[in-house]
Amino acid sequence: MDVAYEWDRVAIPSSLRFFEHKWAKRNEPLCFSGVWRFRELLPFARPDQIVTIGEGQTMLQRADSLASYVGMRPGCVFLQYEGMNPSGSFKDNGMTAAFTHARIVGAKRAACASTGNTSASLAVYCSAAGALRAIIFIGSGKIAYGKLAQALDHGALTIQIAGDFDDAMARVQEVARQLGVYLVNSINPFRLEGQKTIIYRVLEGLDWQVPDWVVVPGGNLGNVSSFGKALAELRDLGLITRTPRLAVINAAGANTFFELTHKHGVTWNGGHWDRHKVQSYYQSMDMENLRAATIASAIEISRPVNLPKALRALAECGGVARAVTDQEIVDAKAKVGAGGMGCEPASAASVAGLRRLRLEGVVQPDERVVCILTGHQLKDPTATVAYHSSDPKTFAEVLGHRGVRRANFANRAVQVRNDLTEIIQAIEVYA
Ligand code: F0G
Repeated sequence: MDVAYEWDRVAIPSSLRFFEHKWAKRNEPLCFSGVWRFRELLPFARPDQIVTIGEGQTMLQRADSLASYVGMRPGCVFLQYEGMNPSGSFKDNGMTAAFTHARIVGAKRAACASTGNTSASLAVYCSAAGALRAIIFIGSGKIAYGKLAQALDHGALTIQIAGDFDDAMARVQEVARQLGVYLVNSINPFRLEGQKTIIYRVLEGLDWQVPDWVVVPGGNLGNVSSFGKALAELRDLGLITRTPRLAVINAAGANTFFELTHKHGVTWNGGHWDRHKVQSYYQSMDMENLRAATIASAIEISRPVNLPKALRALAECGGVARAVTDQEIVDAKAKVGAGGMGCEPASAASVAGLRRLRLEGVVQPDERVVCILTGHQLKDPTATVAYHSSDPKTFAEVLGHRGVRRANFANRAVQVRNDLTEIIQAIEVYA
């Protein structure tokens, strides 16, 4: 389902610059929120129905050190840092919208299956805004500690299923149907309305100029679906004259979207996408007992629920899909961190994907590219510490079995005795 508007019945701004005056009213919650200050473009709720906790205060930053890493000219790579959201990931953009809708329909309980960030976001909204009880479904051992910590700390009912995200996603849909619980996964079209604002803020950060590419990690494919909708709407409303191209980056160990679009030729095809090909791909995965497996646990997903909408987004925006290895992901993540804004592994897939698209010559070095950093660095400290660790056992346990051979940009802690001379010597040598 999509949220569709009768645009002729709402007041549409004549230019995107209209939104700038909201900055002057930052004491008003609906102008402070980086989602709701664009509410004219997601007009499904009355102002008094909106639930906001100040989400979407995020920024676009030029990233020249990464530009050189990925093979682009200085000034051509930008990072849209969504880790600055209250729960530390882009999910809050969608959760505020889903929560608002849940309140409109009078829901009492809200549920999601999650690789961690959706559940953290739901838990934060339930505890901060009240009114709803959070129920979260997670795969056992599949969720990074930072995210699990949030769900537990914020008091969500946490159900750990003996299975992975795809199992949890299937079960939560059954439970939601049976118990009438409000589902906040990105299959919920209101979630995607909120996530459209990531694109609005990207444009805002570029002084309303349209970039050439937006690169985004792909898991359940909610973001790419919502970006496609946002851009098509802006184009149809005459607020932009062209759309950027979209690049969706899977992890190689969870590469359904890449396989289906790139290798099996599945396309939107005006809505007549080849369901049979998709079904037989899923059947072959089941027969070989292939499960998603990647260090980027946020996108460790084999059956993305937003597949059709993501196909539509690629068609609308001339998009492409790629898959990157865990080695490429952790190296890109270290480069992102060294450049100033840390991110979790899944987010770094966007940077690794851009590097690959440059190597293939799909992206040109002087095009303007925005990579979306979807989640905060502190979400998954285990991956970061293992990468920089000098202990081979820690490295092997977390990264080695995933095919990561080297930490190419490791910043190892220097071991010294508790001795002033030795400490000073170490500093003189290394700094
Ligand atoms: N990046 C991060 C940090 C995520 O948490 C997710 C998804 C994605 C990228 C992929 O986004 O699903 O819109 O393609 N995390 C979900 C969760 C699945 O449960 O937290 P997508």
